[in-house]
Amino acid sequence: MLHITSEGFKIQDVSVNNLVHQFGTPLYVYDGKKIIEQLKKLQTAFAGCDVKVKFAAKALTNISILKLLKKNGSGIDVVSINEAKLALKVGFVPSEIMFTSNCIDLVEVSEGVQLGLNINLDNLSILEQYGKKYGNNYPCCLRLNPSILAGGNYKISTGHKLSKFGIPIEQLTQINELILRYKIDINGLHIHTGSEISDTEVFIKMATILFDWAKDFPHVKFLDFGGGFKVAYKAGDKETNVNEIGSHLEKLFEAFEKSTGRKLQMWIEPGKFLVSDAGSLLTKVNTVKKNPTITFVGVNTGLNHLIRPMMYDAYHEIVNVSNPEGNEHVYTIVGNICETDTLGSDRKLTEVREGDILVIKNAGAYGYSMASNYNSRFRPAEVLIYNGKAQLIRERDTLEDILRGQVEVEI
Ligand code: LLP
Repeated sequence: MLHITSEGFKIQDVSVNNLVHQFGTPLYVYDGKKIIEQLKKLQTAFAGCDVKVKFAAKALTNISILKLLKKNGSGIDVVSINEAKLALKVGFVPSEIMFTSNCIDLVEVSEGVQLGLNINLDNLSILEQYGKKYGNNYPCCLRLNPSILAGGNYKISTGHKLSKFGIPIEQLTQINELILRYKIDINGLHIHTGSEISDTEVFIKMATILFDWAKDFPHVKFLDFGGGFKVAYKAGDKETNVNEIGSHLEKLFEAFEKSTGRKLQMWIEPGKFLVSDAGSLLTKVNTVKKNPTITFVGVNTGLNHLIRPMMYDAYHEIVNVSNPEGNEHVYTIVGNICETDTLGSDRKLTEVREGDILVIKNAGAYGYSMASNYNSRFRPAEVLIYNGKAQLIRERDTLEDILRGQVEVEI
């Protein structure tokens, strides 16, 4: 995590200046210690629920990060067969992998079956195709849409009536018909209501629905609560109280066991909670542009590397690490992409000079994994600080990467 010392800004014990000197900018830097700390927080909060943490790989798919999480006891949640292959590559065993997909075809689902993954299905049509093909030969989990509108941002909210995700709970009759017709073996029930959910009540509502359904599904072995645990993006932000949720859910799991004699596992699929805070995007100031009404700081990154501010109006704190003693001024920090790519509006920063290094915080989740080569710019390098050592875990793109796969024909 970024912090100031008498020798300047550091991430863990490594100086930001040294990182910039060694690896250049723009640069994603991940603090391995912080990732492990966050994982332990969840493992402890839900210890009474027989929890299996499955990192939502989509948040950050670098294989070294996946390896770090695996080594510390995490399983993994994947949304495509390619993410599953990354997970297998770093040594996750198929039974630790949850394949939760949306709007994919049976061919991709079947690949997941062949690899031995846990399969999670989220519409009636694919359930029917699955039933026809596998009957009761390979179990699957059902992703339900509980009609809960949760989280602060509609674009990342997935459990409401108008969302494309999950099978609406109103379709229970149709689900049951298919299960009976094809003898489908349902081994788990899943709900993910969205991202950045800080309200304990939402998790309790989800639990009520899941436990209610689990009574009628005798082969269900786990309830999957998805991800969505919120972290603080700025001072005063509320973080999900995972300990409070843990103690409520522990009681509900116990009560279910008492009344049915069935002990269920709890699965969770955190993305942001594990890696958001641990990640920083380091960028260099290319230009300070003083217009009559606004002072822009133009940096050597943009929405091609961090799309969250433009896509979700997400707030990422920005710090000028090159001038900690400078006077504060108000700036609008923008990228170098040929679009309006504002990274932060009207931010108070210590005086910014061309060549300064800015750190964009909370960039670990959905930062690099949503990055692109738009404007034919290179995606940044990635560095992991682990055991006090900063190591390159992905090289910066080169022109070869941009040309890779392009076919030049005779014109
Ligand atoms: N499980 C499922 C089924 C999901 O769809 C997601 C996120 C997660 C778990 C992990 O959610 P998390 O713990 O990270 O909130 N790109 C957006 C977030 C999209 C989340 C997509 N699904 C953002 O940058 O805010």
